[in-house]
Amino acid sequence: MLRSYWMRILITADLHYNNPRSRRLADELIDEMRSTPAEVLLLIGDTAASAGDDLERCLSRFEGFAGPKLFVAGNHELWTRGEDSYRLWKEELPRRVKERGWRWLEEEPFVAGRWGIVGSVGWYDYSFAYESMGIPRRFYERKISPGAAAVVGMADLVEGFDDVPEPMKQVYARWNDGKFVKLGRSDEQFVVELEEKLERQLAGLKGVGSVLVAMHHLPFREMLPPPHTAQWDFVKAFLGAARLGETILKHENVKMVICGHTHLPMEGQVGGVRAINIGSGYRVKRYRVIELG
Ligand SMILES: [Fe+2]
Ligand SMILES: [Fe+2]
Repeated sequence: MLRSYWMRILITADLHYNNPRSRRLADELIDEMRSTPAEVLLLIGDTAASAGDDLERCLSRFEGFAGPKLFVAGNHELWTRGEDSYRLWKEELPRRVKERGWRWLEEEPFVAGRWGIVGSVGWYDYSFAYESMGIPRRFYERKISPGAAAVVGMADLVEGFDDVPEPMKQVYARWNDGKFVKLGRSDEQFVVELEEKLERQLAGLKGVGSVLVAMHHLPFREMLPPPHTAQWDFVKAFLGAARLGETILKHENVKMVICGHTHLPMEGQVGGVRAINIGSGYRVKRYRVIELG
């Protein structure tokens, strides 16, 4: 019998395998995924932090899957106590992932028949921050809200507090990439590099009928969770970058974008693109089976 699809892909994100409680749920999810027939497997970031061998242990749980296994990093893979996150992303992680028999999708797009799949960690440049909150940029650059900066005594941020709207001085939030990710360049510079890379890869797939972009962070503002408390709205600055979405929309053959990172499931349409967030998190794990036609 003829099947109605070209390729079935098993996709998950945010397994967070180095977190003990998350690992138990991840193991259950992986068992379920292993019993689901599919041709391709795809992990879209935050599989595990890079320290130790949690990443390898997680990847090895998928051993025995017969088809191609595609890997995209998330921000948590770039967490490090002492090293250089940029080198981790550029050299160490690709090597470790490939040694386990996985494809580092960010460098090597996958093409099968009429579909192409490209990957990117994606990142943030604060373009998703709510301007209406009036929080000066220096707080986003240090990944700490005004209230929290005052509490931990970041004098250089808090001096000149006069430019911070009064209610925002009571916002206490911290994005932990600020402590554990060391890119050696600004977030914005990193996004520009990712954008150039994505553009090159999409240009290379011009002749391919349909393209799926697997990106850990969000490329579209439309994919953000709805407005919430000021604490939560502050961290939206770290969920994605609008310019990556603009690059995607320039390529009409991109039909689908799949993300993780927010830990909240979502599905919608942005222009001609079906936008999906897997919505796997620490307490609830999810995966999707996507049939590419
Ligand atoms: Fe995550
Ligand atoms: Fe993430």
